[in-house]
Amino acid sequence: MTEDLRPSGPFRLGDRVQLTGPKGRLHTVTLRENGELHTHHGVLKHEQIVGQPDGSVLTNSGGHEYLALRPLLRDFVMSMPRGAAIVYPKDAAQILASADIFPGATVVEAGVGSGALSLWLLRAIGPSGRLVSFERREEFSQVAEANVETFLGHRPASWQVVVGDLVEALPTALEAGSVDRVVLDMLAPWECIDVVADALTPGGVVLCYVATATQLSRVAEYVRGTGLFTEPEASETMVRGWHVEGLAVRPDHRMVAHTGFLITARRLAPGAVPPDVRKRALKKPSYADEDVEVWTPGAVGDREITDKNLRKRVREAQRAVDGARIASGVAGPAAGLDAAAEDVGADPEPVVD
Ligand SMILES: C[S@@+](CC[C@H](N)C(=O)[O-])C[C@H]1O[C@@H](n2cnc3c(N)ncnc32)[C@H](O)[C@@H]1O
Repeated sequence: MTEDLRPSGPFRLGDRVQLTGPKGRLHTVTLRENGELHTHHGVLKHEQIVGQPDGSVLTNSGGHEYLALRPLLRDFVMSMPRGAAIVYPKDAAQILASADIFPGATVVEAGVGSGALSLWLLRAIGPSGRLVSFERREEFSQVAEANVETFLGHRPASWQVVVGDLVEALPTALEAGSVDRVVLDMLAPWECIDVVADALTPGGVVLCYVATATQLSRVAEYVRGTGLFTEPEASETMVRGWHVEGLAVRPDHRMVAHTGFLITARRLAPGAVPPDVRKRALKKPSYADEDVEVWTPGAVGDREITDKNLRKRVREAQRAVDGARIASGVAGPAAGLDAAAEDVGADPEPVVD
């Protein structure tokens, strides 16, 4: 199995293709033998697309034109089945930079959720790296594994998924001091900081992605309180699109405003106490644990995905990967699933973990 993470060249059976049709409507299909895209504008046969270069324009039976492009990773993650809320591309890009994810790195990620961030991390570490993704809910890991395989066309050898809570599973899965980078995307990352400190190599980076200011404050204080890390650095990333046409050059009217905050810190060498940490230790903390506890998303009633909804997402993700496997002749579908079903992409209802 190739470890080439960047598909290119003419379209082949098994490829996912994003088709932009009349009025800019998007359809995502997996190319398969005798496959067809049916819309009320007519029929576009998959065999018309196979062999054409990426970026071709094809005409369907009704004379309507479709632009065919392989989805970029950012397109794929926004339309793939979701069990849990995903890391948006703007944050994923910043995570790769802030956590300094490099080719060949050993990276730990938790939780894996829908696998959006896993895909970015796998791409950044490359085939010589190692990504170990922890997820405490098995159904989420199934959605993530199907999504990763659907996008890459195979399961990369550099990826391992461990089902279990990071606090219990990390110390047995990886040797202490052997991990270069840790990325936490979960409700209560502060619960994991102790095991993360043990797993990280001196100088290694921990990055937490949190949705609310109170989570940010709580994890910052926890990291500080351990005395095992450098001073945490926090940020948020806002990307504002621009409309650029003739003389109408202005910011877009709409944007994705708030998604989350990033906070990073580096693991100190054993026994090292930087001067600023010594000074801080003399100061009295200005908050109590309960102050931040009451404002966590769980406490203020942020909803979690229902079991029924989650099972639906697992089926969707499984159908997509089965369709891709059949089309590329790799393997048959999972029992009881209609693998031949067309996987028309839609932005699924976002869910909150
Ligand atoms: C918001 S989702 C992660 C989304 C993911 N980063 C993505 O881009 O698709 C958070 C996930 O963390 C998992 N989780 C929360 N606490 C955990 C823990 N202590 N250990 C392992 N997984 C955990 C949840 O089950 C959930 O699936």
